[in-house]
Amino acid sequence: MADRVLRHILQSQQFDRPFLEIIFRWAGNFKRNMSGTLSWGGSSEERLWDSKQLQGTHMIELFYEASTRTRTSFGMAGLRLGMNLIWTENAKEFSSAIKGETLEDTIRVLCEYGPDAIVLRHYETGSAERAAAVSSVPIINAGDGIGQHPTQALLDLYTIWEKFGTADGLRVVMVGDLLNGRTVRSLAYLLAKYRSIRISFVSPSDLRIGSDITGWLDKKGIVFNEYDTLGWETLGYADVVYCTRIQKERGSDASEETLAKFRIGKQQMEMMKESAILMHPLPRNDEILPEVDSDPRAVYFKQAGNGMYVRMALLLWVLHRI
Ligand code: NCD
Repeated sequence: MADRVLRHILQSQQFDRPFLEIIFRWAGNFKRNMSGTLSWGGSSEERLWDSKQLQGTHMIELFYEASTRTRTSFGMAGLRLGMNLIWTENAKEFSSAIKGETLEDTIRVLCEYGPDAIVLRHYETGSAERAAAVSSVPIINAGDGIGQHPTQALLDLYTIWEKFGTADGLRVVMVGDLLNGRTVRSLAYLLAKYRSIRISFVSPSDLRIGSDITGWLDKKGIVFNEYDTLGWETLGYADVVYCTRIQKERGSDASEETLAKFRIGKQQMEMMKESAILMHPLPRNDEILPEVDSDPRAVYFKQAGNGMYVRMALLLWVLHRI
């Protein structure tokens, strides 16, 4: 164990396409097997299908920020593979952070207990890298402030891959708070690995995508445009529309009048192609109206569900099983 390279997951740029194909194949297998088992309504033992490939291993989920999907889907992924699990939610208040302990010291202490992986969500950009620098076990970045959310990007891309088989040649529209939303940042880095992709960034003018991302896309030769309204010129050509909420807790703000310009309802869905998909990392506020939930192109709940399968595959990789 000690001499093995630690497989941290810190940022989307670290993944290459062969890696993505492996993770997506495994996630797809898990999804097919598990939903197949569920649909035959087999015994409870069969319903809890898993290969228990990680039996006897331990995961710590250390979350300093709110989470629903990321924490529970990592937990479910680990449990289904036979991992043992311990977590601290709201570690900002309920861990020694409130007594002034640094993140580095907390990670050093947790490592002494011998976990096989630590899933970390923290409010500071760069926290996952800081944790990894002192950790003797793999760190999985589950969101570092406005920095990145690489495992979300993997499940987002998996959802795109499930529909289109690739991201090559797609037109992707990203809408909402592109300044402080970490999911769009991580996804943009991933999409930049694909050929002939075109990205439209649609946001209020004070919540535009950062120059670190546009600079990266320029460097990679990716065609992108920025818009401050959501209409035919973007929706009409999109294969993927990826909406995000305004990150109020990170200081973003927008008036109701502004928000209304970026909202997706039935009228906007009419502008979209039949073959397009509408995505959202969730939680949503009212940037996507519930009236479109039943539209088959609205895939955000399935997208969230994919998170568990993708994280099962990732855990296998992090623990050197694939
Ligand atoms: C996202 C996050 O935490 O960045 N949530 C998630 O993990 N699905 C998106 C958000 O909070 O807006």
